[in-house]
Amino acid sequence: PKITYIEDSGKEHVVEAPVGQTVMEAAVKHAVPGIDADCGGACACATCHVYVDPEWLAKTGEQNSMEQSMLDFANDVETNSRLSCQIKVTPDLDGLVVRLPKSQH
Ligand code: FES
Repeated sequence: PKITYIEDSGKEHVVEAPVGQTVMEAAVKHAVPGIDADCGGACACATCHVYVDPEWLAKTGEQNSMEQSMLDFANDVETNSRLSCQIKVTPDLDGLVVRLPKSQH
C-alpha cells in the first residue's frame, strides 16, 4: 500500500509500505523527515505523531488508551492525531494520507 506523508511545509513523500509494518516503520525506513520514533515503536515517545487525513480516520481506527496518554506529551494534538507506530499497515490503507505536525521537522 502507498502512504503519503506530508510535511508541514507541504512537501510530500510517497512511500510503498509493506503490510504488517507500522506507518512509523515505513516512514523511518524511507527517511521521511519529522518521524523520529525515538522509542522505536513502543508507544513511549510521541515523536511519531501524525495527523490522519479525516477521510481515512474510519480505516486507521482510533487512538488506543496507551496512545492517548502518550499524546498528552505531544504538541498541537488534534482530534485526528495518532502515533504512527500504533497504526498497522493493511491493504485497506492503500492511498492513506498523513500530515506531520509543525513541531516535528
Ligand atoms: Fe515512540 Fe511511536 S515511535 S511513540
